[in-house]
Amino acid sequence: INKIAVFTSGGDAPGMNPCIRAVVRTGIYYGLKVAGIRQGYQGMIENNIVDMDNHSVSNILQLGGTILKTARCLEFKTPEGMQKAYDNLKKNKIDALVGIGGDGTFTGLERFSSKFDIPVIGVPGTIDNDLYGSDYTLGFDTATNTVIEAIDKIRDTAESHARLFFVEVMGRDAGCIALRAGIAGGAEAIMLPEKDTSIKDLIATLAAGAAKNKTSGIVIVAEGDKNGGAFNVAKRVKEVFNFYDTKVTILGHLQRGGSPSSFDRILGSRMGFAAVKALIAGEHRKTVGLRGNEIVLTDIVEALNGHEFKLEDDLMEMSTILA
Ligand code: F6P
Repeated sequence: INKIAVFTSGGDAPGMNPCIRAVVRTGIYYGLKVAGIRQGYQGMIENNIVDMDNHSVSNILQLGGTILKTARCLEFKTPEGMQKAYDNLKKNKIDALVGIGGDGTFTGLERFSSKFDIPVIGVPGTIDNDLYGSDYTLGFDTATNTVIEAIDKIRDTAESHARLFFVEVMGRDAGCIALRAGIAGGAEAIMLPEKDTSIKDLIATLAAGAAKNKTSGIVIVAEGDKNGGAFNVAKRVKEVFNFYDTKVTILGHLQRGGSPSSFDRILGSRMGFAAVKALIAGEHRKTVGLRGNEIVLTDIVEALNGHEFKLEDDLMEMSTILA
């Protein structure tokens, strides 16, 4: 391979920029030309592709978001869209790809590389931490820290007014952010998509707290919780349990922004570095990941089909004991 391209796709995540920087600088160090594709698969279809050098990625390590921009692109799912993307890659003499993103990004890489002869490596970048093949995805650590900071602030006002807050955090299908932020923020209860908690049980927990003279409380509700989000949970609790004045806060997209934590900067750098080295070593259709403290490669089909329960047993158990 002579020229590789890097892109980010799907939801942005803090740590993508350090990863882009590592891909560009590692590629150039090993004598490759490197291009950046803007707006993910959309940019591939629209030929929104720029050549990059060491300078193009100066001063981005500390930036949230992605300097290459991102998009969720439906056209890439069609044979015509893929063909346009492939023709543009050829026009730009690009012969391998590093795609940073989540499940949708990996699906795109898998389908594209089954159809066309182009080596691809996927890097897990999503705040949700819901991908197989890596203990951590880029952005998860920063997002969790952001949520904890928010919970601490909400607790100040909750305690001052003796209120019960229902705080909804991101995680479409995964409760990783909710569980960690709940433990680190001392939440009274945590509602997760991976574990059914009935409203009845939640009320029992809150009533037990009230009986122990808890003057305020925080319930973390993961976006994907089956009770239908923080507003619904709060409403149903209030119908039966009226001990506290209740409020709802949806943290939303503020969880996706912000300067990447040291963990995400280092993880992004390691993964970008490993992705380029993997391409140079002739690896194809793989994802990079962190297992323990080691960077590993996983077959992309295995990564897409595999599922793992990423909520640690001890955290699950202590979430009720320590609250
Ligand atoms: O996948 C990351 C994520 O932030 C999810 O937690 C959330 O459900 C989704 O993206 C929101 O997507 P969008 O920014 O497209 O609304």
